[in-house]
Amino acid sequence: MGMKGVVLAGGSAKRLGELTRITNKHLLPLADLPMIYYPLKALEQAGITEVCLITGKEHAEHFIALLGDGTVNDREGNQLFNLDITYRMQARPGGISEAISLAENFINKEKFVVFLGDNIIEGNIKDAVQNFSRQFNGARILLKEIENPNAYGVPVFNDSKEIVCIEEKPLSPKSNYAVIGIYLLDYRAFDFIRELTPSGRGELEVTDLLNIYIKESKVESDILEGWWRDAGQSPKELYEISQLIYQTGANKIHL
Ligand code: G1P
Repeated sequence: MGMKGVVLAGGSAKRLGELTRITNKHLLPLADLPMIYYPLKALEQAGITEVCLITGKEHAEHFIALLGDGTVNDREGNQLFNLDITYRMQARPGGISEAISLAENFINKEKFVVFLGDNIIEGNIKDAVQNFSRQFNGARILLKEIENPNAYGVPVFNDSKEIVCIEEKPLSPKSNYAVIGIYLLDYRAFDFIRELTPSGRGELEVTDLLNIYIKESKVESDILEGWWRDAGQSPKELYEISQLIYQTGANKIHL
């Protein structure tokens, strides 16, 4: 059995306004596919087929109707996914770390990959997964250089280019890198999450979890190749990401 995946597809998506008043952000279209297909395909391409999908109880039945047990065919009968999907319900949006904690008995002491369902990447995560399987323990994150990363987690480096901490949405970012919403963690994540307290926005933050990893052991990183977008930012962004997908593809899902 290889590494397992945890896809987070909950949240109230207030930044998307009317689009998410009655449905879940991850079911909205990006180009010609529901958003959730992109993270699932990225995991499948990296050889991760056992996936736990975490969402709120309001829309869980829609995900089950769309994805079932993970063997998914399109209308013509072509296979889209050959995954094994398990579901967990989040009672209310309480942050990324709280959502991760719901996968504890699914993961059962193994290393795993957390994928935020609204993070869309052009390329794949094969190298990061391979590097992480060789890594003794700790966590591994993916970074992307962008002009102003102040809407994201931002790593702070020392002179030896090691990550000394991560700051969440800093007003004055100390590097030009954004922490992408794909996290490779060892099973101690669940113990570390039990130490967390809610942030200013009332959530158990993934950045706080990563900072515990930095303190206790280490966080390594890879630079992601190809473009990356967080599709939860604004309705206009959804349109722009759709254009990008049509122009360049994403996870080679359209080939
Ligand atoms: C979350 C994380 C942030 C990360 C981002 C990636 O932000 O808190 O550290 O960089 O995802 O998409 P949020 O989307 O909750 O604002």
